[in-house]
Amino acid sequence: MKTQLFAAEQVKEAAALIKKGGLVVFPTETVYGLGASAFNPGACARIFSAKGRPSDNPLIVHVAREDQLAEVAGPLSPQAKALKEAFWPGPLSLIVPKNPQLPEIVTAGLATVAVRWPSNPLAQAFLNECGVAVAAPSANVSGAPSPTNFEMAKSAMLGRVDGILMGEECEEGLESTIVGFPDGQAKILRPGSITADQIALVLGCDPASLIYLAPNEGRPVSPGLKYTHYKPNAEVRLFRSAEDWAGLSLEGHKVGVLLVGSSVPTPPDWDVARFEDWKAYGKALYSSFFEFDRIGCTLILAQLPEAGGIGTAIANRLGKAAGH
Ligand code: TXA
Ligand code: MG
Repeated sequence: MKTQLFAAEQVKEAAALIKKGGLVVFPTETVYGLGASAFNPGACARIFSAKGRPSDNPLIVHVAREDQLAEVAGPLSPQAKALKEAFWPGPLSLIVPKNPQLPEIVTAGLATVAVRWPSNPLAQAFLNECGVAVAAPSANVSGAPSPTNFEMAKSAMLGRVDGILMGEECEEGLESTIVGFPDGQAKILRPGSITADQIALVLGCDPASLIYLAPNEGRPVSPGLKYTHYKPNAEVRLFRSAEDWAGLSLEGHKVGVLLVGSSVPTPPDWDVARFEDWKAYGKALYSSFFEFDRIGCTLILAQLPEAGGIGTAIANRLGKAAGH
């Protein structure tokens, strides 16, 4: 398939492809999304094949206007409304009742739909030009890290989609926080840069009450939770301090290391991605994986943050990347 590349000024041309039932990769503040009209079931089916995504894993629908929201979702609960008011546009997806008009393929047969109103200006311009809600999972091949810059998006999706809209590097670099309401209680189904403390403040609840414990049996509330994710080609091992890698056998490995601050000394032959703080680390996590893969690293040592704040989202992605 020929993939057209669009500069940021060509939002109209990129949106025209969506209106014709095409697939277009576009930037958001979290990661690049692989979009299709949410009301075109054939186009949505192509999302699943382009990603190699299991068909029981539903898609997040992106909106940029109230009328687009009303087209995909039923009435919002008071809690969902409060979170919408507090965090949209922004990196939060809400699981809300599905509008019966929305094709089943988008939600993989669930009665709920994940909706997000992105804050990235180019994403908003694109969604407005599309004039319709856009279903878009992260623009990676299933299981791989999400693209957070144009280079990564191209590398993952060239030849698999009709178009790619070129944006800047994603501001957050980690997928949106997902909040759902299983049994009517707000739960964080996937941690992101909007933290449990921020959500608890809006809802007037204890942050601990937002922790979601997946049931051992039956269909998971968020189907994507059960799949492996975010894995680069290199093996990923986690550490908290230099003592943690003292016992590792590194023989024959080309090592890349991701860390925060200057307190951990590294051998001179390692490739080092060092960040000022955890926010910067999270933003560059996937692009660092991409870069380490590109230069042929076989082992990535990634520093593990303490839980809490952005550390919870980073630890969640690292745990999956390391196959825990
Ligand atoms: O930041 C993001 O959320 C990015 C950008 C492109 O917006 N999108 C993204 O989509 O990360 P995806 O498909 O890679 O992850 C969506 C997750 C999956 O784990 C899926 O199972 C879950 O959301 N999900 C979608 N609809 C759901 C629903 N109705 N109920 C529960 N979980 C749902
Ligand atoms: Mg994804």
